[in-house]
Amino acid sequence: MEAQLLSIVLALSFAIPTLYFLVLHNLLSKQQPRNLPHGTMGWPICGETLTLLKPHRSNSMGTFLQQHCSRYGKVFKSHLFGSPAIVSCDNELNMFILQNEGKLFQASYPKAMHGILGNFSLLVVSRDLHKKLRNVVVSFTGSSKSTPAFLALVENLSISKIDSWAGCKEIPFCKEVREFALNLIVKQLLSIEPGEPQAFKILEDFRTYMKGFISLPVYIPGTPYANAVKARARLSSTVREIIKEREKGSVDEVLIREGDFLDVILSKGGLMDEEIVSIVLDILLGGYETTATLISLIVYFLGHSPIAFQTLKEEHQAIRKIKKDGEPLNWEDYQKMDFTSNVIYEAMRCGNVVKFVHRKALKDVKFKEYWIPSGWKVLPMFTGAHMDPSLHDNPSEFNPWRWTDKAMSKKVMPFGGGPRLCPGAELAKVEISFFLHHLVLNYRWKTKADDFPVAYPYVEFTRGLLLEIERNTDDTWK
Ligand code: HEM
Repeated sequence: MEAQLLSIVLALSFAIPTLYFLVLHNLLSKQQPRNLPHGTMGWPICGETLTLLKPHRSNSMGTFLQQHCSRYGKVFKSHLFGSPAIVSCDNELNMFILQNEGKLFQASYPKAMHGILGNFSLLVVSRDLHKKLRNVVVSFTGSSKSTPAFLALVENLSISKIDSWAGCKEIPFCKEVREFALNLIVKQLLSIEPGEPQAFKILEDFRTYMKGFISLPVYIPGTPYANAVKARARLSSTVREIIKEREKGSVDEVLIREGDFLDVILSKGGLMDEEIVSIVLDILLGGYETTATLISLIVYFLGHSPIAFQTLKEEHQAIRKIKKDGEPLNWEDYQKMDFTSNVIYEAMRCGNVVKFVHRKALKDVKFKEYWIPSGWKVLPMFTGAHMDPSLHDNPSEFNPWRWTDKAMSKKVMPFGGGPRLCPGAELAKVEISFFLHHLVLNYRWKTKADDFPVAYPYVEFTRGLLLEIERNTDDTWK
């Protein structure tokens, strides 16, 4: 009898929510205005989310976007991340969405991500609070990108990473470059030296934190999501401890540190501890994995394009030629790195470091023939525009020369746009350019045939970009 009762209760507990969602889903489909973009809402509850997130080569659109665009056009409706959604692979609509942030649209990352990002993350806050916190980040990135201290830090860490491969025939490049990018950002933000136990602790917590972003948001102890929420709490208390020590410290200590980012925000005042912690985590989150991923993509594409590799090397040889032995790079050298800049942008276009961003419509919006209802999720798909053959000839080909046409930058926006344009774009470009300078002058490499970038949805390499490397012998700059 008890067993029968239990099975009835179990059956009902599955049937009632399923029925409820089926009815709701049906109602939702019927209530939609007639002039909505075409598309399908997929399954109840999860809609088409799992199909959208299905891994695919990151230098392709993936079958979900390909099939939907060819069936419904560049803009289509769907049901994603728990909400009815408009997906846009139309570059003009994407720009319109990003430029109308706060007026017609607003950043709207899934609720589950808020648990990981915290309440003060730039990706979560809007309006005045967003402006206030963003200004702090912009003043940091804007002022530090060209300072001799920052340029020397980037160059020294690049050289020491590249020198550490002496005698190696093979290196796991993604792991190596992640370490480089993290060492750089923790030194710049918090003056933590590479190799210090605190740097290892931050790296470990940060990896756990990142894994939570690509996991199911289920808060059960042991799940990647729950681990990420805990890792964020640990990172937050590490930063708080550092803040406390700084507040007790002397002016001499600030001079020894040459005023890192934390000193700069602490000296400004007017921010709560929780806001400071959140800004530090945003910069770590925004600046570490993305930069490391982009360097890996560049190395991957150059490994398949000997002419681009040679052209890049010649640009850096020319810069090195007019410098004394071992003379450090400076801002003027960086400004001469035109082809390097083309390589960076082309790798972003082909590799799709950020596939899409999350927005929601604040009002009913009409753009061209597209109708977007108020409250719906809106996903500007950068990948769609990056791989659009009407914008780029042969879009899946890695061709840095296409960027010599300056109009290209209007056609592609891998750093986002509008009031949320990535505040770290130039900083990332400097880091990558300096790293590439020493890499191409010292090494050539081959990638494994079965190692390629996968949109996971964050880009990962199937074999961690295992490189066969060989030291260049024809030019020694040191
Ligand atoms: C290759 C490197 C990078 C790529 C591809 C990239 C891409 C992006 C994109 C697409 C956005 C817009 C997100 C949105 O509109 O919702 C963004 C925002 C952001 N990025 Fe970057 N980023 C990179 C490097 C960096 C670096 C080095 C930093 C920090 C120093 C950084 C910090 C941020 C922050 C704080 C935001 C949030 C801005 C806001 O909401 O106002 N990023 N990034």
